[in-house]
Amino acid sequence: MDSKIKTLNEKLAQSYLGGGEKRIEKQHANKKLTARERVLYLLDEGSFEEIGALVTHRTKDFGMDKQQYYGDGVVTGYGTVSGRLVYVFAQDFTVFGGSLSETHAEKICKVMDLAVKVGAPIIGLNDSGGARIQEGVRSLGGYADIFYRNVQASGVIPQLSAIMGPCAGGAVYSPAMTDFTLMVQDTSYMFVTGPNVVKTVTNENVTSEELGGASAHATKSGVAHITATNDVECLEDIKKLLSYLPQNNQEKTKDIPYELADEMREELSQIIPDNANKPYDMHAVISGIIDTDSFYEIHKNHAENIIVGFARLGGKSIGIVANQPMFLAGVLDVNSAKKAARFVRFCDAFNIPLLVLEDVPGFLPGTDQEWNGIIVHGAKLLYAFSEATVPRVTVITRKAYGGAYDVMNSKHIGADMNYAWPSAEIAVMGAKGAAEIIFKKDINAADDKEAKWKEKEAEYADLFANPYSAAQRGFIDEVILPETTRRKLIKAFSMLEDKQVEKPKRKHGNIPL
Ligand code: HXC
Repeated sequence: MDSKIKTLNEKLAQSYLGGGEKRIEKQHANKKLTARERVLYLLDEGSFEEIGALVTHRTKDFGMDKQQYYGDGVVTGYGTVSGRLVYVFAQDFTVFGGSLSETHAEKICKVMDLAVKVGAPIIGLNDSGGARIQEGVRSLGGYADIFYRNVQASGVIPQLSAIMGPCAGGAVYSPAMTDFTLMVQDTSYMFVTGPNVVKTVTNENVTSEELGGASAHATKSGVAHITATNDVECLEDIKKLLSYLPQNNQEKTKDIPYELADEMREELSQIIPDNANKPYDMHAVISGIIDTDSFYEIHKNHAENIIVGFARLGGKSIGIVANQPMFLAGVLDVNSAKKAARFVRFCDAFNIPLLVLEDVPGFLPGTDQEWNGIIVHGAKLLYAFSEATVPRVTVITRKAYGGAYDVMNSKHIGADMNYAWPSAEIAVMGAKGAAEIIFKKDINAADDKEAKWKEKEAEYADLFANPYSAAQRGFIDEVILPETTRRKLIKAFSMLEDKQVEKPKRKHGNIPL
């Protein structure tokens, strides 16, 4: 028995060493942790249970039968994060560059299948040179097996992807189909075709970092939801993100015990400027409402005219979608509509109530927006809100103009409670433009056209640049003082806790893509 135990221990020791000391040193020199170090950092101490540590690849071509590494370039298993079960796979760049073989894919699929059967989040730590070149189509098949599972698990369990090294070619489509993609600055990149192919095909000179680094994807493409400055920060981000999510779509997030006290937040009444054209930072409204320091922003640097993120309100996890008057006056455009729609759908799939803070002057005009499909992308957000059955509450802080009023979680598309501050302006359009159109004849006939225009503008503003017309019709449930907002919202979400919506049977809707 002793010698058998010795054999097992030797094999496991080899597996734990991955591609060997030299390659581990190289990984560290490149400012990256190894796959195993990442897993152990992510999971609660002592909780990791490995699955498949002794798996080896089955390829004989190109002398591969003489190159065997236990684990085959991916560490897989389960453990806990803050006491909650999660499944994890971490690609090991020290073994064939973390490249994906048939067996490597089988290991990932095994933990994905377990995660779905049990109903717990799956976390992928990606660091891979892509398809194992020596394996050809078997590797491609392995990718497709993973993609298929990503889609079957979508909306069933949370799927998180951290990109902590290369992720290129078709490999990018697994993270893209998961719920959140995190990237590490300077050490990770994602692209479908790399700089060499780009140079050949389009004659553009671009580095990997410029083409698909964390900053490019966090700002321009929106592929990355969260960026971190190093591996440890990225793993901490995963833990934090998980804290707002339920284990699966059948569960609600765990509440932190909370007792309603004096919830007045006087600072909220100081935020809206006297001049309606002056911007203010919607983050100040968010932090004035939520539990102290509980906001976790998603897509922080992409489409900054809309803010999305998780927070706690009276100890409950909520999703927030808020127009940001500091950027483009908070208009809706292609990118902000897509960003918000995806977030709304995630929250709805995982039973996370939605709070919408609204200050929106309308949709961004222009050929760029029209030709890039603002019609279809704006429709995504409208669709996403309309289909969401989680508790949905809106607070209009200032502008709610035009179609954007309808889109931003209005009563008409199924919001449960709609509040407005006294500073709210709810109308088809701004008073100036409205006066110009409906009082055109009066203005043209006047001796002093400018004065007439101003007079009519004031008349329109008086009638519509307020929340009362909407409140009279019940489109707004209550006009509230800003300082009472937190208390109102805690009570409203608590009242909505057991909301149930029955939907007619259908295969799936047809969201405008
Ligand atoms: C097999 C690979 C590999 C791969 C790297 N290695 N990529 N082995 N298949 N795809 C091995 C290297 O031979 C090397 O082995 C070790 O991993 C580390 O690689 P290096 O090149 O030394 O590292 P580095 O200089 O950091 O460069 C990393 C890299 C580069 C940029 C990722 O290795 C690279 O360009 N690899 C090929 C990428 C690629 O074209 N993949 C296929 C994409 S197509 P030793 O023994 O020296 O340590 C694809 C399709 C997926 O993925 C389709 C899904 C639908």
